[in-house]
Amino acid sequence: MAEQVHRLIYRSHSTVPRERRDEVLAEIFDVARSKNKKAGVTGALLISDNWFVQTLEGDETVVTELFEKIREDDRHTDVSVVESATVEDRVFSRWSMARISPIGRSDIPLHDVEGRIRPAAPDQPGREQQDLLTRMRNTIGADFV
Ligand SMILES: Cc1cc2nc3c(=O)[nH]c(=O)nc-3n(C[C@H](O)[C@H](O)[C@H](O)COP(=O)(O)O)c2cc1C
Repeated sequence: MAEQVHRLIYRSHSTVPRERRDEVLAEIFDVARSKNKKAGVTGALLISDNWFVQTLEGDETVVTELFEKIREDDRHTDVSVVESATVEDRVFSRWSMARISPIGRSDIPLHDVEGRIRPAAPDQPGREQQDLLTRMRNTIGADFV
């Protein structure tokens, strides 16, 4: 039987001051990647100056409990769920937490030179990932430049 995958997408407002951003984000990714790997959680975290948009994929109970913990984190506020649903497959199966950023250091480059969203890698189907990245980006709309 295929794995049941729960996908939760939320958006939140970052409370991290700009001057501490690099340091704080590095810490979040370090912890997230190591804990998610152990818990079988995959996903992506999109970062702009003011917003986070995160997709979490995995077992429903695991994802729900992780989200409850993340929701309480004071490095962000105004956490609102964009989607919470059972889906057929993981979209970010290669990433315990991919970093999506408009400016450098992304694991998945978001734009090509023409401004189109790019597939993750040549060996990936890409389409579903592109669609989901577009949806994540659209939840913060004009703020994400
Ligand atoms: C925007 C954001 C995204 C986060 N994503 C994750 C994540 O994917 N996995 C994770 O374990 N912790 C994530 N965290 C950190 C958790 O809130 C929490 O600090 C971490 O899981 C450590 O919890 P613990 O000290 O109780 O083990 C995130 C925090 C923020 C602010």
